[in-house]
Amino acid sequence: MSTMTIGFLGCGNIGCGVYRLLKEQGEQIARNEGETFEIRRILVRSKGKKRGAEIPEALMTENPDDVLLDPQISIVMEFMGGEEPAASYMLRALEAGKTVVTANKMALATHWQELIHAARTHAAGLYYEASVCGAIPIIRAINDSLQANRITSVTGIINGTTNYILSRMTREGASYADVLADAQRLGLAEPDPTADVEGYDAAYKLSILSTLAFHRHVPVGSVYREGISGITPLDVQCGKAFGLTLKLLAIAKEVDGCVQARVHPAFVPDDHPLASVSDAFNAVYVSGHACGEMMFYGRGAGDMPTASALVSDLIKAAKTKNHQLPAVDELPAKMADDWACVHFVRMLARDEPGVLSVVSGTFARHGVSIASMVQKGETDSDGHVQLVFLTHRASERCVRQALGEMDRTLVSQVNVIRVERD
Ligand code: HSE
Repeated sequence: MSTMTIGFLGCGNIGCGVYRLLKEQGEQIARNEGETFEIRRILVRSKGKKRGAEIPEALMTENPDDVLLDPQISIVMEFMGGEEPAASYMLRALEAGKTVVTANKMALATHWQELIHAARTHAAGLYYEASVCGAIPIIRAINDSLQANRITSVTGIINGTTNYILSRMTREGASYADVLADAQRLGLAEPDPTADVEGYDAAYKLSILSTLAFHRHVPVGSVYREGISGITPLDVQCGKAFGLTLKLLAIAKEVDGCVQARVHPAFVPDDHPLASVSDAFNAVYVSGHACGEMMFYGRGAGDMPTASALVSDLIKAAKTKNHQLPAVDELPAKMADDWACVHFVRMLARDEPGVLSVVSGTFARHGVSIASMVQKGETDSDGHVQLVFLTHRASERCVRQALGEMDRTLVSQVNVIRVERD
């Protein structure tokens, strides 16, 4: 039996979850894994604050040096969240030769190269399963189970808040604003929901996943990002009529040596495994040349699901003598600047003879072929009608150029949503 002395950076919901899990499961972990853990210091912002675990006040400190400079602490668990000071503290811990276990996708994705470099230089471990999709062991799967594969794509629902909002919009026909307000009342969405609803949270996670899947660094700034705040119940309803379900997808693909990494609303066919992932659940669908297609499903957030991944990493870190870092080239990935998919295009058009031929002619000039078109509802009192097109697979750039050239005296309120079929 070995005892590892550890320190916490932060003690909010996740930190308290880890504390409770270690207390509850400590004996079982000792029996099964031969490891025990002694929590020596916990960095908090304010010692007097009420917490979700009964933690002796003597463990708490407001001075980061009490954790970072303590030679007895060999593993630092970070759950402060946010970029700074978390990234700087993790760097300091690694530079002191301490192993870091983190749930912080923002700090990790934004400072990936510095953190990996520091871990490598100081022979320290860096473990981050909890940073992507909470309890789902997707990092472990990519790094430790699928090494023999050439992974061709990773497509996921990796943000629970947006999946909850879109699921309710789909089920109830409710508006984005109403469901968001409800989610905020229930504590499922943050008071400032920007990071979730505008796709930033998913972009950090996708940067990490795609870097590991393709063995080349995919910086957060290279991830194309669009959120769900412009989605209307009409989009969801029109998609349903075509047999499509709307999700916020995180998509990473490697095509001809170029990586696409993008987060945006996308329709998937109703019979796609990702279509049935509802509410706050997460799922990641991976395709590899040898393993074929597989889907990982579970809880992507919350104190105990996240603590489950953190404690698993802690046990792994404690049992590892020579820490392994991911095999990622120093050069960043070559990013694709265009991609092809089916596009759903909804527009308000003047209901007059010849309008359809102008619209289809503009698409045709840019090589965009229309697969189907429906007129939605009746002509309004101003003589306008909603038209919905599904294109054949078409280049993103060509669709944008075509829409940029549409005669705005004839069409307005154009909304484009990609359709992912693979
Ligand atoms: N806010 C995230 C989500 C959880 O809604 O999935 C933490 O990454």
